[in-house]
Amino acid sequence: MASTASPGPTTIKADAPQDIGIIRVHHVNFYVNDIGDWANYFIHRMNFREVAHGGPYSGKGDRVCRVVGHGRIRFILTQAAYRESVVAGFLRKHPQGVADIAFLVHDAATALEECARRGATVVAELESHHFERGRIRFGSIAAYGDVTHTLIDVRGEPPFGPGYHDISDAELKQPDPSGSTFAIVDHMVANVPAGEMDRWVEFYERVFGFKQTRHFDIRTKRSALMSKVLTAQHGYIQMPINEPSSENSQIQEYLNANHGPGVQHIALLTKSIISTIDDLRRRGMSFLSVPDEYFDMASARVGPIDETMEELRRTGILVDRENNEGYLLQLFTKPVFAEPTLFFEIIQRHGLARGFGEGNFRALFEAIEREQMNRGTL
Ligand SMILES: [Fe+2]
Repeated sequence: MASTASPGPTTIKADAPQDIGIIRVHHVNFYVNDIGDWANYFIHRMNFREVAHGGPYSGKGDRVCRVVGHGRIRFILTQAAYRESVVAGFLRKHPQGVADIAFLVHDAATALEECARRGATVVAELESHHFERGRIRFGSIAAYGDVTHTLIDVRGEPPFGPGYHDISDAELKQPDPSGSTFAIVDHMVANVPAGEMDRWVEFYERVFGFKQTRHFDIRTKRSALMSKVLTAQHGYIQMPINEPSSENSQIQEYLNANHGPGVQHIALLTKSIISTIDDLRRRGMSFLSVPDEYFDMASARVGPIDETMEELRRTGILVDRENNEGYLLQLFTKPVFAEPTLFFEIIQRHGLARGFGEGNFRALFEAIEREQMNRGTL
């Protein structure tokens, strides 16, 4: 087993493209077969609330949408309204999953124009919508596989979007305040085929002006993958891109199941991971299970932390320290849909930890192998 992680280039080359002004993830659009089931999933299993809905009745054309949110996270669940819908076409090619990641930008018109000038394919031209209380502008470009990026800017306090009915404050059911709490999307991860990672890193550097901040090369007996992390120069965006480096890699398994590149996982940032995981488990969410062995070694590996090792062992939460900068706590859900494709990560960061739990790859695999040795199967 080998695992190397090293910070990549930290200085921006003088001729590096300027960041186009991306601030954070505005929303993620999931294409699904049964919108009712998935709205219930987010509302009941993940303590989200419904904030808007739309469909042919409100001018949404070929699709029915329900928008759920928590903190500043917004997920659109989209179902085809009829067979010829673009959504139905996507779902004939791929299992259910992420079709669009929308970024909040300072100026959507300039950003879209600049992306096109830098070689991106515009798949939806700029639209501008004025409302009583504000304005929204957006357009979209193509990314890896059939995933797109919408660039959106917002002035004032407009409704969620054109063709949506916002759910009024009176009707709004707030998330249970004693339950899970989420703030924003912390990072989202792309899986692309072997040999294509560098091409996509170059794409995001050139088109968005992102910079590469670190890279990983992870090898175990079971799985090998390479990953490079892109970040926005000013906004809060972190986007690792993975490619498989072995036939049996979990990344290859994803690519086979998804019929091409796509979003592997979305990490939701929380300020209280222990009560959030307790709440999510109560609500019936399933997480990857961590061998008890993992926690026997964790104290020695990460040193002092605010939480007790008993709390982490009880909740199954993983921990990783990043030199002297801080530490992070994380836990991964099982795949959300029927296929081994998309999953969520719940993450809490302490101090200046900006990583992704690199130390956990090794610790988790070693824990599993120690269990195998105990059973005499390794
Ligand atoms: Fe992650």
